[in-house]
Amino acid sequence: MGVLAVTGSTGNVGGRVARLLAAAGVPQRLIVRDPARAPRLAGASLAIATYSDGEAARRALDGVQTLFMVSGAEAADRVDQHRSFIDTAVAQDDIAEVVSAVLREPAGYDAATLSLTGREALTFHDIAEVLGARYEPETVDEAYASRAKYGAPDWQVDAWVSTYTAVAAGELAGITDTVQRITGHPPRTLADLLER
Ligand SMILES: NC(=O)c1ccc[n+]([C@@H]2O[C@H](COP(=O)([O-])OP(=O)(O)OC[C@H]3O[C@@H](n4cnc5c(N)ncnc54)[C@H](OP(=O)(O)O)[C@@H]3O)[C@@H](O)[C@H]2O)c1
Repeated sequence: MGVLAVTGSTGNVGGRVARLLAAAGVPQRLIVRDPARAPRLAGASLAIATYSDGEAARRALDGVQTLFMVSGAEAADRVDQHRSFIDTAVAQDDIAEVVSAVLREPAGYDAATLSLTGREALTFHDIAEVLGARYEPETVDEAYASRAKYGAPDWQVDAWVSTYTAVAAGELAGITDTVQRITGHPPRTLADLLER
């Protein structure tokens, strides 16, 4: 049987996926940039590669049949990271469970795109209310202005703001049953996370 490889195991999502696979007794190859920071997990071997190094990537991927590749993290600004923690840390566990289940039985998912959502369609007003806070909408110009203080390059500010323009355009609207269907349990809610 071909090798199963996971990147990003030094980070949030990849780390959760790798731990779930190890707990399920699945052998895996962790492809990392810095082996000193790789999680020590039963059944896991290490290979070293960064995405931009084609030679190292080819060596690290030798014999790999199934790969979970975490997209390279953008350096988000700290305030946005703290805000997004609230509505994504629930999501990371659900994502990792779905990924771990798919990696263990990948045959049915060739070329599949899975859209994962929570079980509630929340507006930012709803989220603020749950947190006992108040949501203040910004225009696109205000969004750029409020992020200007970080001195980030234009592409990065575009990336930050585009998250919210995508939400405003309804691109992230709607809920799916993918988490329930694949993990057998409903997605975690914001209230679940806050309780935890
Ligand atoms: N977690 C969230 O709430 C959230 C929300 C929206 C989008 N996302 C996106 O989802 C992705 C994963 O999120 P995360 O929270 O797991 O990120 P993370 O904790 O920052 O982890 C990113 C992982 O990817 C590895 N990595 C980054 N660039 C790499 C490269 N060029 N070559 C090889 N490995 C590389 C990192 O390795 P090192 O440890 O060596 O840096 C790290 O293990 C990111 O792209 C993030 O922007 C996350």
